[in-house]
Amino acid sequence: MSQADDTAGNRRDFLYYATAGTGAVAVGAAVWPLVNQMNPSADVQALASIRVDVSAVEPGTQLTVKWLGKPVFIRRRTEEEIADGRAVDLSELPDPNAENANLADGTPALDENRTLDEAGEWLVMMGVCTHLGCVPLGDAGDFGGWFCPCHGSHYDTAGRIRRGPAPTNLPVPRAEFVDETTILLG
Ligand code: FES
Repeated sequence: MSQADDTAGNRRDFLYYATAGTGAVAVGAAVWPLVNQMNPSADVQALASIRVDVSAVEPGTQLTVKWLGKPVFIRRRTEEEIADGRAVDLSELPDPNAENANLADGTPALDENRTLDEAGEWLVMMGVCTHLGCVPLGDAGDFGGWFCPCHGSHYDTAGRIRRGPAPTNLPVPRAEFVDETTILLG
């Protein structure tokens, strides 16, 4: 009797990616160390803007990079994730603000106001729970997005808070595509 091959080689929920010598990011329920943003150290300032190669990110997976001392999730969403995000009515959202640094304050949290591209494939956001700063888990929770196990916050496929104590959506930082496969953060 043979045993099923249980290797994880066919499933990549997370890619660990090192940028500019900052090292790979450990993703999990651990509390991310707080960074004193009012007085960033020289090495933090040096990374105020980074380029991320996303050419290896397949639909349904995400890349986590460390930026300004915090994890940033770069997810390439599947058609289903996009459809799920777009089907949500604003009235269902605890935080109706897009929380997107690339758009004007107060822009509604419609799915299309959360993503980097018009097709809605690319979602870039800070991987820090807006409750007390844990790192949410991907492909988890009741809304098909992220789940923060620290106190039970559920985020949807657009990173919007749907249930739990987190007060706001996961923030979208300043980001843009500078070519077809490179995202500039900051
Ligand atoms: S830190 Fe995420 S739910 Fe409390």
